[in-house]
Amino acid sequence: MTPQSPQPPLSPQPNPEVGAAVKAADRAHVFHSWSAQELIDPLAVAGAEGSYFWDYDGRRYLDFASGLVYTNIGYQHPKVVAAIQEQAARLATFAPAFALEARSEAARLIAERTPGDLDKIFFTNGGADAVEHAVRMARLHTGRPKVLSAYRSYHGGTQQAVNITGDPRRWPSDNGTSGVVHFWAPFLYRSRFYAETEEQECARALEHLETTIAFEGPSSIAAIILETIPGTAGIMVPPPGYLAGVRELCDKYGIVFVLDEVMAGFGRTGEWFAAQLFDVVPDLMTFAKGVNSGYVPLGGVAISGKIAETFGKRAYPGGLTYSGHPLACAAAVATINVMAEEGVVENARRLGAEVVEPALRELAERHSSVGDVRGVGMFWALELVKDRETREPLVPYNAAGEANAPMAAFAAAAKANGLWPFVNMNRTHVVPPCNVTEAELKEGLAALDAALSVADEYTK
Ligand SMILES: Cc1ncc(COP(=O)(O)O)c(C=O)c1O
Repeated sequence: MTPQSPQPPLSPQPNPEVGAAVKAADRAHVFHSWSAQELIDPLAVAGAEGSYFWDYDGRRYLDFASGLVYTNIGYQHPKVVAAIQEQAARLATFAPAFALEARSEAARLIAERTPGDLDKIFFTNGGADAVEHAVRMARLHTGRPKVLSAYRSYHGGTQQAVNITGDPRRWPSDNGTSGVVHFWAPFLYRSRFYAETEEQECARALEHLETTIAFEGPSSIAAIILETIPGTAGIMVPPPGYLAGVRELCDKYGIVFVLDEVMAGFGRTGEWFAAQLFDVVPDLMTFAKGVNSGYVPLGGVAISGKIAETFGKRAYPGGLTYSGHPLACAAAVATINVMAEEGVVENARRLGAEVVEPALRELAERHSSVGDVRGVGMFWALELVKDRETREPLVPYNAAGEANAPMAAFAAAAKANGLWPFVNMNRTHVVPPCNVTEAELKEGLAALDAALSVADEYTK
């Protein structure tokens, strides 16, 4: 594959003029997330299908980011598109206080798949508001104010959710009054505990968490919230026993255990939910993204019997106009059924183990920039470093501008090879749709190989 060579378009016809108009209106009127508005250059997208999308110039990209890690069944799945169209024709919207076919069925299908007794579903519009509501439920259930969450985590962009987040996106919105205390979760490659084995990392991370609980005051802590496998922060698969240990601490101190499965849920890890990989059952579990592959905004909280009971006779003081929106729920029903019929979860598990993992380990042997490979299913991270011995990251933590040039060069090389990569700090994540094919994976891994050669030029 030669850099800069356009891929054959899947689009009916390239149309640069329309592309230019789309771009001009965007630049004039659209205010983008997390961005310095004058420093960005958003690609104008003309269409998408399956694992690919394309621009108005006829350039096609294999989406190894699944959008923002949510198109678990790829773009434009015909059955899900048809379900949304049918629902729109039948009942496009309806208020939340009524029982609706699509909403009831979506809740039933989700509850059937969640672990343990997480059998009641509160629907939200996305992941951040799911986290907001989970924390509110935990505070009301326990009557306690504080929340413990991990550094190296992302839980959403709204005020409480971004304060729960443990990455630099929190800093501008953190005025120290959110009631959130951060702790270190296990991450052997960059251990905070001077650990040399997963067993040590696990034991020491649990000891650190219990000490944090003791010094914060157990009776002041409503919830511990963790991403089952932290996503954007680096896909750090927790060592065996860690989540079970957190479960025990929560039980010991009467703390609500919240697992955030917004990114890890709905097939991403090769299970319906990542909690099933570790055999743990939280008290509350948040979801969004993969629940309907983001075809219509939807998120939610799966609620255990014990917490649902708290709000049996007492009103839950929270809600949303669009809670359980029929279009979003119809998309969820169709998505879950498609995933079951087409073996999408099994596909993620099998191709993750048989194709992605061996290929990434082989890339790590050949590329001096690859410091660590970790993940499971269709959820993989490559940690890029300047020096494999010292593990110095390829770019400094939270680098921007010139300091981020090596990662920018890596991403540009991937795109020039027709691969749309997920890039965060000094990492690239391999997170294609869960129904990606083996041929698509091989195409993307070849483009990744070429882009890593660019990253290698920045190593010592
Ligand atoms: C683990 C996790 N929680 C919450 C969120 C926030 O979800 P949303 O962007 O739908 O509000 C995200 C988004 O990436 C996430 O990855």
